[in-house]
Amino acid sequence: MSLEQAVSFIAQPGGHLTGTIRVPGDKSISHRSIMLGSLSDGAMTITGFLRGEDSLATLKAFKVMGVDIEGPDESGKIAIHGVGMHGLKPPAEPLNLGNSGTSMRLLTGLLSCQGFDITLTGDHSLSSRPMTRVTEPITQMGAVIETTETGTAPLHIKSTADVRLNAIDYVLPMASAQVKSCILLAGLYAEGRTCVTEPAPTRDHTERMLQGFGYPLEINRLDEQRRTICIEGGGKLTACDIDVPSDISSAAFYLVGASIAEGSELTLKHVGINPTRMGIINILNLMGADITLFNEQEVGGEPVADIGVRSARLKGIHIPEDQVPLAIDEFPAIAIAAACAEGQTILTGAEELRVKESDRIQAMEDGLKILGINCQGTRDGMIIKGGQIGSGIVDSMGDHRIAMSFAMAALKSSGVITIRDCANVNTSFPNFIQLAQSCGLKVEAD
Ligand code: S3P
Repeated sequence: MSLEQAVSFIAQPGGHLTGTIRVPGDKSISHRSIMLGSLSDGAMTITGFLRGEDSLATLKAFKVMGVDIEGPDESGKIAIHGVGMHGLKPPAEPLNLGNSGTSMRLLTGLLSCQGFDITLTGDHSLSSRPMTRVTEPITQMGAVIETTETGTAPLHIKSTADVRLNAIDYVLPMASAQVKSCILLAGLYAEGRTCVTEPAPTRDHTERMLQGFGYPLEINRLDEQRRTICIEGGGKLTACDIDVPSDISSAAFYLVGASIAEGSELTLKHVGINPTRMGIINILNLMGADITLFNEQEVGGEPVADIGVRSARLKGIHIPEDQVPLAIDEFPAIAIAAACAEGQTILTGAEELRVKESDRIQAMEDGLKILGINCQGTRDGMIIKGGQIGSGIVDSMGDHRIAMSFAMAALKSSGVITIRDCANVNTSFPNFIQLAQSCGLKVEAD
């Protein structure tokens, strides 16, 4: 374990969450704003950009590929002078994308036909995550990409100099916004019309932002679940300012914390409520949460609202499988809600959780068991019986969302919860501790 990883969170039991807070900017939208802004014609500004390590890894990658980017300042303001679709320069060194799966998977599509060789690397966790889900379709389009024998990073993208990519018609084998986005971004450079069909709705920030930059897309609903998105290669992106809303995935910890801790009354300002991200609110509502949306408005093509949450008696449910892709990053937090709920909560259809920043089914099962909760991981989910959360030392497995979820569990624990290996909270939520303290969580970093 490196010194950096040696950060622990120590959370004292009890308390409640009150006040009005604004969590940092949306990670998915922050990544995409840098990518599309860099390739656009003209100057644009981003406000509310997430100054977390993941989105900063994307920002740095475009800087070293010759894009003039100023910021972010304290408030998350950035100015980008786009270089156009063909203006990126070969970087002198491999692009190290740290812990960020979104950077690596989206850039694999975007950089697959730039006319120069490029290598993408990442940290230990990112280097063990599956990448053939993106390299396979992009290779079908004519790109040349080498992975390790097990299909992981480093990824070596070879120059296909004067070859344009071929358009493909691709049916995603899993509901993944990262894979969908990777193919659509490669499709910008393909000869003809690239189409991607998703088996269930996944976050649609790429589609919304492409349209915001004036790039036409065709979106067809095949049925309740499946949609096909088609893009014609060879167009251009017109610079457009972006206001990044607060990240509902960061708000999720507070929605769960305020729901489980008696006497809580919390308002979260300016949170993105894109329907493809609303799983956390839908699931908590089914469990009996007291959540209200107000000041709903549309900001730069994304719906935004203030969210009020009060403590409530939660009950266990069988989580509807159609909510799984819509809450894919929120299951560590939902597992804490389930541990505090009356009765049993069953999660199925969520095998993707095994290949996130950690194996999140295993990480939550291990941690909850240490805290005395009766739970069982399954191939594609978990069964959790609500009970009294005890105390103990749990391991976040270097996963930001596991760390923040167990910190919230202390609101209902009988003793201190120590969480190991928390440095990666900085990837998505650098001020988590300060903000949590400001509204009542008795947590500190050690
Ligand atoms: C993301 C998509 C999701 C999510 C990740 C961010 C994105 O991954 O887990 O944190 O920005 O597109 P998958 O689409 O692979 O499920």
